[in-house]
Amino acid sequence: MRNHVIRTTQSAIAASLLLIIAGVMIPASAWSLDQHTWTDGQKAILRSLWIGSLGPLPVDPSNRYSDNPKAAALGRKLFFEDHFSGNMKVSCATCHREDYSFTDNLPLSHGMDTTPRRSMPLIGVAYNSWFFWDGRTDSLWSQALGPIENKLEHGISRTMSAYIISKYYREEYESLFGPIPEITEEKWPQEARPAQDDPNALKAWVLMTPVQREAVNRIYVNMGKAIAAFVRTIMPQPSPFDRYVEKILSGENITKRMALTNDEIAGLRLFIGKAKCTNCHNGPMFTNSDFHNLGLPQKGKGGPDKGRSAAITQVLSNEFNCLSQYSDAQANECSELRFIDTSGKKYEGAFKTPTLRNVTERPPYMHAGQFTTVHEVLEFYRSQAQNPELGHGDLTDQELGQIEAFLHALSSPISSLQAEKK
Ligand code: HEC
Ligand code: HEC
Repeated sequence: MRNHVIRTTQSAIAASLLLIIAGVMIPASAWSLDQHTWTDGQKAILRSLWIGSLGPLPVDPSNRYSDNPKAAALGRKLFFEDHFSGNMKVSCATCHREDYSFTDNLPLSHGMDTTPRRSMPLIGVAYNSWFFWDGRTDSLWSQALGPIENKLEHGISRTMSAYIISKYYREEYESLFGPIPEITEEKWPQEARPAQDDPNALKAWVLMTPVQREAVNRIYVNMGKAIAAFVRTIMPQPSPFDRYVEKILSGENITKRMALTNDEIAGLRLFIGKAKCTNCHNGPMFTNSDFHNLGLPQKGKGGPDKGRSAAITQVLSNEFNCLSQYSDAQANECSELRFIDTSGKKYEGAFKTPTLRNVTERPPYMHAGQFTTVHEVLEFYRSQAQNPELGHGDLTDQELGQIEAFLHALSSPISSLQAEKK
């Protein structure tokens, strides 16, 4: 009897539990939180990531030609010009391929030889203050001058560059920058540059007169300024993510066509929430423009890559920085350089947070191509739970898949000055 009572009570409880569950479940599906419902706080984050928040291109006071269309048109030609290389085969576009989000598909770039780092996508690059993975230059024009004299990349000297400009681009150059002083191979050595790694080239450079060196530097710098004017035009277009956010912010109904998939939305919620990706990948270019050491596996010979910590002195002493005689800026316009954070220790092994726009279109990943797929990148982040900067919580396999799905929604066609193909 007693048992029976208990049994009855148990089944009554079970039945009422079922009822409660059913009672909750029925209305829950009717009222279920719409997956397109975002709190005001979340909407503010979505707005900050939206391409509509990008704003006009920042002015570069150090390059007075940066928004000159003629300079950009010349720069575009120089970008695809393979005369500027030791083997006549390497141009900027070798490692920054237009059909590959302006990067290449190699773990380590290859020009005249293999470089120690991975190429970078140039999408929206003008929104940066520092260039290269370690930020060792402070403008796009001084950045462009690095690869040309780098033995592993273009591998030619600045005297040779000036000579090529005078031979093949004289008219366009002079209409922008004024007359080119007479340059002949007899008068000026072909392979002269202030090189640390090439005593012959350095000797030839030192033996030139100051006037000659200055003239060559001017041409070299103007070449960089024209290339920078082109590189500035490489911009992302609205991605599915941006179109979705635009609808959310306008309060319009989300049609199926505009909606992200359930997985993409779940991934977006994780990206701005539990996975804390927006701690660093924030703003409309998905980067905080700062440098971090993620504790990646080291690759390559020559000891650990010091990243940002080694670049601080390089940018401060760069002969073409914002405060140099070749910059068009007033000293007070060089605030990034003047207020540079010089804490070498903080930046030991740190690299620039890259944009995540078009990220799934351009494997491999990280500054030395450490990972082949986005999935590997995400697995790595999950394994770094003990890193205070990367405390992402316990992400399940399903959640990793959702974040990856979301990253796919950041792809878009890229616009640039229509590149001239050869
Ligand atoms: C041999 C391959 C190669 C060539 C050629 C090359 N680059 Fe790069 N580019 C790279 C690599 C690798 C990096 C990253 C290097 C580093 O961090 O040390 C890079 C970085 C950059 C960056 C920095 C992007 C950012 O977000 O900071 C820009 C801009 C750029 N290159 C433009 C150019 C231009 C312009 C040319 C032609 C004058 C050029 N590159 C030639 C491989 C190349
Ligand atoms: C502490 C800052 C920080 C956080 C948090 C962070 N990232 Fe990164 N992310 C970086 C930096 C820095 C790099 C480049 C590191 C390097 O190459 O040394 C990077 C690289 C990447 C790359 C490779 C991009 C490329 O072009 O090579 C992807 C993809 C990525 N992060 C996605 C994410 C996702 C998804 C999250 C959240 C789970 C996240 N990141 C969290 C700073 C961060």
